[in-house]
Amino acid sequence: MSNLIEGFLGKSVEGKKSRMPAKLDYWQSATGLFLALFMWGHLFFTSSILISKDFMHSVTKMFEGSFFLEKENPYIVSIVVAIVLAVFIIHAMLGMRKMPSTYRQYQVFTTHMGMMKHEDTTLWYVQVITGFSMFFLGSTHLFIMLTEPGKIGPFASGDALISGWMWPVMLLLLFAVETHGAIGLYRLSVKWGWFDGKTPVETRKNLKKVMWGIMIFSILLALTTLGAYMKIGLDHRDQVGQRYQPTAMMQKVKNLPINISTNRANSSRCNLWAEGV
Ligand code: HEM
Repeated sequence: MSNLIEGFLGKSVEGKKSRMPAKLDYWQSATGLFLALFMWGHLFFTSSILISKDFMHSVTKMFEGSFFLEKENPYIVSIVVAIVLAVFIIHAMLGMRKMPSTYRQYQVFTTHMGMMKHEDTTLWYVQVITGFSMFFLGSTHLFIMLTEPGKIGPFASGDALISGWMWPVMLLLLFAVETHGAIGLYRLSVKWGWFDGKTPVETRKNLKKVMWGIMIFSILLALTTLGAYMKIGLDHRDQVGQRYQPTAMMQKVKNLPINISTNRANSSRCNLWAEGV
């Protein structure tokens, strides 16, 4: 009954306004914070390729459980992706409440934004546009990671970008996610007054500088990382599907006490191993 009255009048039977919008806002912030922190971890782990292919390979194996399993299992990656995807969907659902949903609402908002020329209002609009684009870009990437968790690695990731044509999606996604995440963290700090101190106006100015710093740094790091994987994918175009073998393993293969030219059976087994078959 009270739901019905609140549904028509916007107030409960006791004349109180619902707390639900505030609760939804709280969850919007909590899920946004989770995703933004996850994205930082994700950026640093993927950029391990800038150190070396071997290092990136060992990071991948670590996520497949190499430190506690005898044989790595890529489905551990799927479980992490499933959790991130669930939070992503909840966050997107909560974000949809705020987006202008009719032409009229869109017109009111953009006119208001144009007249105000208030940077934070414009940044909010950027949040809406980048958030909207992630419905498509983020879902595509997450779905592939969920269903093909074993295809992560120096060669596999390079191949996916070039031979699998994922690079345009990832290029757009990196701009959307790094911009949205940096603005989002700034908005969170302002909204919940985390660093207000005694001079909130000063703090806000400083937070804005930190926001731009984080945004530029993460876009540059993500672009460099994407470029590194794309270069590998281009160099590896003729061997698509072949998996990367760490240098230490290749050394072992080289040092095997066999005469490759005279022992054909061993030679072909050795080649197969080197290709990860
Ligand atoms: C389809 C995907 C997404 C959509 C539709 C979306 C939408 C939105 C919208 C509309 C807002 C503004 C909310 C407000 O005005 O209070 C927002 C805030 C935020 N988003 Fe997203 N977002 C998405 C994905 C992400 C991702 C991947 C991250 C992590 C990088 C993220 C981090 C944040 C943060 C930290 C905030 C600030 C939360 C707040 O102000 O309470 N979002 N999002």
